[in-house]
Amino acid sequence: MLNDQKIVFSGVQPSGNLTIGNYLGAIKNFTRFSEEYKTFYCVVDLHAITVRQVPAELRRRTYETLALYMAAGLDPKKNTLFVQSHVPAHAELGWILDCYTMFGELSRMTQFKDKSAKNAQNINAGLFTYPSLMAADILLYQTDVVPVGIDQKQHIELARDVALRFNQVYGDTFTVPEGFIPTDTMKIMSLAEPTLKMSKSDENANAVVYILDRKDDIMRKFKRAVTDSDSVVRYAEGKDGINNLMNIYRAFTGKSYEEIEREFDGKGYGDFKMAVGEACADGLAGVQAEYDRLIADKAFLEATMKAGADEAAYYARKTLSKVRRKVGFVN
Ligand code: TRP
Repeated sequence: MLNDQKIVFSGVQPSGNLTIGNYLGAIKNFTRFSEEYKTFYCVVDLHAITVRQVPAELRRRTYETLALYMAAGLDPKKNTLFVQSHVPAHAELGWILDCYTMFGELSRMTQFKDKSAKNAQNINAGLFTYPSLMAADILLYQTDVVPVGIDQKQHIELARDVALRFNQVYGDTFTVPEGFIPTDTMKIMSLAEPTLKMSKSDENANAVVYILDRKDDIMRKFKRAVTDSDSVVRYAEGKDGINNLMNIYRAFTGKSYEEIEREFDGKGYGDFKMAVGEACADGLAGVQAEYDRLIADKAFLEATMKAGADEAAYYARKTLSKVRRKVGFVN
């Protein structure tokens, strides 16, 4: 890596099928860094087991997430693509950072509160310390920029706080990372309950559009999307359903709110929903075709994750040995 080259790190959990929210809010943005930055994109399987997983499905989705990274445009020659558990330094630094993360800080994490409410029978310690492992992911690579969806903002802030705290005690050790949270793609909401985030674990299949959904499913889901009793396509407070559809349309077409309002002036919600469906299906078609090709080539996926892990481990080891020395471990 060049000395002045900035570093980007992000991760996606291989739990559940990825949605257009994951695509528009995170993965699609990853590609914009490939040329100018040293980029690490990780499939975070260690994070996935904070919620109970079916082992065969976790394994399958790990391959799928890697294939989706590439299908979305991440060339493994230009980006380090790897699986978190293949680089044990993540777990090791995760433990160390647990000891520099406060119980009170973790208790304030909204994702922890949401997930514990949803998984009341399995509020495990890993779910609680999830953000310190995420901090380890980021800090291991001396990351400058972390592209994530808005829902991860609090976790990024925690990673910064942990880095600053550690640096204060031991002297400069970690780069203090910045989140890259695109404001031009708002949070994508559920099609059925547009005040809630579109979640890959939603039980209502019509609420969620998956990256791998085929056109007829996409059209059906948008046709059923919840709107409001008004009938004007306009971005406005209280029109959560329409605002969400406008955001999705905007993300796939590049059109502004004003352009969309003009385009659908005098037309009803029905026409608008069909147009959103078309734009979404068209926008995903290329990714899906490439995905189909990649997922069939398991040997290539395995070679890619192996090469990625070797590369990542090289950089991770540098930070980890520095940390071990600073905290006083014998080498
Ligand atoms: N918590 C992130 C999410 O659910 C996934 C993640 C794990 C991550 N480690 C990361 C994202 C490090 C960015 C950087 O979306």
